[in-house]
Amino acid sequence: MPRLATTLHTQRLRLEPFDARHLDGLNAMNRMPEVVRFLGGQPETRDQTASVITRVQRCWATWGTSWWAFIETSSGQVAGAGCIQYLRRDAAAPEDLESLVGKPLEIGWRLHPDFWRQGLASEAARGMAAFAFERFPIPELLAVRHPDNVESGRVMDRLGMHQRGLEPWYGTTVATHVISRAEWLRTRSGA
Ligand SMILES: CC(C)(COP(=O)(O)OP(=O)(O)OC[C@H]1O[C@@H](n2cnc3c(N)ncnc32)[C@H](O)[C@@H]1OP(=O)(O)O)[C@@H](O)C(=O)NCCC(=O)NCCS
Repeated sequence: MPRLATTLHTQRLRLEPFDARHLDGLNAMNRMPEVVRFLGGQPETRDQTASVITRVQRCWATWGTSWWAFIETSSGQVAGAGCIQYLRRDAAAPEDLESLVGKPLEIGWRLHPDFWRQGLASEAARGMAAFAFERFPIPELLAVRHPDNVESGRVMDRLGMHQRGLEPWYGTTVATHVISRAEWLRTRSGA
């Protein structure tokens, strides 16, 4: 039976599981060179964004987690996107999605530049991390970034993650950050 795709709510955002209605907004973001600078460097075509949405819908149905579009509630615009998903060592995504179940879960984010520097990535990150720890019996949550992606590293810091070092994920070497369940619980209780 397909798993449920879950919508999340934060103070300024609605996090909606990817859907065809997000195509224009997601492509407007993913075709910008400054957005993909540390994410392979290739702006996304409209067809590629459409394929990603289809794949993400399969991920939601298989795993019960994947990518959300961040909708700014005041304007209804797609402000960004983020994920809780299984990490993999290979660059290419496998056809068999079940084969990734049991790998570490990672959290990820990106924003359209019009929405940078407003705290929205960190706000969404807190909501997605809560979803990950509440929905899955994981001991820890990981995040990976290009070592030069300082802005993303600051979002990881604000979430309470610490850097574990350089590790091989996605067919390359990335700075890997982690927050344990105990650390996340302490963050939540304000301790
Ligand atoms: C990574 C990325 C999402 C970070 O975006 P960001 O806007 O810097 O991060 P946040 O949304 O958390 O905003 C935090 C900033 O907003 C500021 N801010 C302004 N108003 C704020 C508010 N009301 N609440 C909180 N922070 C606020 C903070 O001071 C902080 O600035 P600082 O880092 O200079 O201290 C963005 O650079 C991006 O989309 N990059 C391209 C895609 C990418 O590389 N993704 C990550 C791959 S690993």
